[in-house]
Amino acid sequence: MESLPVPSVQAMVAATGEADVPPRYLRPAEAVTGIVNGEGEAQIPIIDYRRLLLELDRRGEESARLHQACQEWGFFQLINHSVPDDVVEGMKANIQQFFQLPAETKKLFAQERGQLEGYGQLFVVSEDQKLDWADMLYLYTQPPESRNTKFWPDQPVNFRSTLDRYSGAVKEIADSLLATMAENLGLKQEVIADRCVGGVQSVRMNYYPPCAQADKVIGFSPHSDADLLTLVLQVNHVQGLQIKRNGSWFPVRPVEGALIVNIGDIFEIFTNGRYRSIEHRAVVDPKEERLSSAAFHSPNIDATIGPLKELTADEDEAYKTVDHENFMRLFFATKLEGKSFLDRMKLKYSGSS
Ligand code: OGA
Ligand code: NI
Repeated sequence: MESLPVPSVQAMVAATGEADVPPRYLRPAEAVTGIVNGEGEAQIPIIDYRRLLLELDRRGEESARLHQACQEWGFFQLINHSVPDDVVEGMKANIQQFFQLPAETKKLFAQERGQLEGYGQLFVVSEDQKLDWADMLYLYTQPPESRNTKFWPDQPVNFRSTLDRYSGAVKEIADSLLATMAENLGLKQEVIADRCVGGVQSVRMNYYPPCAQADKVIGFSPHSDADLLTLVLQVNHVQGLQIKRNGSWFPVRPVEGALIVNIGDIFEIFTNGRYRSIEHRAVVDPKEERLSSAAFHSPNIDATIGPLKELTADEDEAYKTVDHENFMRLFFATKLEGKSFLDRMKLKYSGSS
């Protein structure tokens, strides 16, 4: 990986709930509020994992609903998933406890210059860039040999073993969803599955402190995820995730026990735009902290990132083809700005690339 600027330690740790927000975190009002559209009581689609499993290899009603969710929303909530309750509860408790540790302890796991993993902030590429009102811990979790355990907290005591179990359980779900999604697109399951043997998984744990001026900061800048498929665990009861839908910000209301799943940029590229990654952001609460954890799933590091030949026999390729390592390097070297990264992967992009 190229050396990336890592923010100073002061900049890394967001202030907590004080009235005075450092200028580097203050955003223009229109950048924070935007138009928030509740669409009445509408909710992102809910997909039942147990039903999907029963339908694997013989597409049925739930698979059809998944196809629709992927085409029309790019986001859905997965209920009846297979991550054991004790693993989910263990992850939630550990993430909460980790972020409550004294700053000195958390810094033992801090990002190092030029590296992505560890405790801090990501996508900080210049000194004058606005910062997100959040701290995060980012770790590679799969394949197991990619783990850099020096960044894995050893407190709470079962942090590592719980993350290990969570990582495996969530990867299994991602692989199974990808199998159904491949079939829904008329592909053989192997077309995607083969690229995900030894697939890369990373887990990002997010801590959004409360902010007295919550309407002037952003917890997570608008972005789309760079991966194939992201599975998000809502760690506490505070909401904040919003997705861009018909030009407005649409709040996600997490269903108890569900995982929030979304399509990433690599899926959009693989499918030549049939399924699109969706821009999303996180806002912060004036009084309560919010915690979440995102597990990102990508093909293995040897896979080429470009439109799948099986889908482009009769159409033009709309995206460039690059190797996986270069793709990731480009992604992390850019500040998050909606889907601007994916725009640069488009073949008809007219700006500088
Ligand atoms: C992410 C993300 C949203 C959230 O980690 O990529 O979009 O709800 N998180 O914290
Ligand atoms: Ni995201």
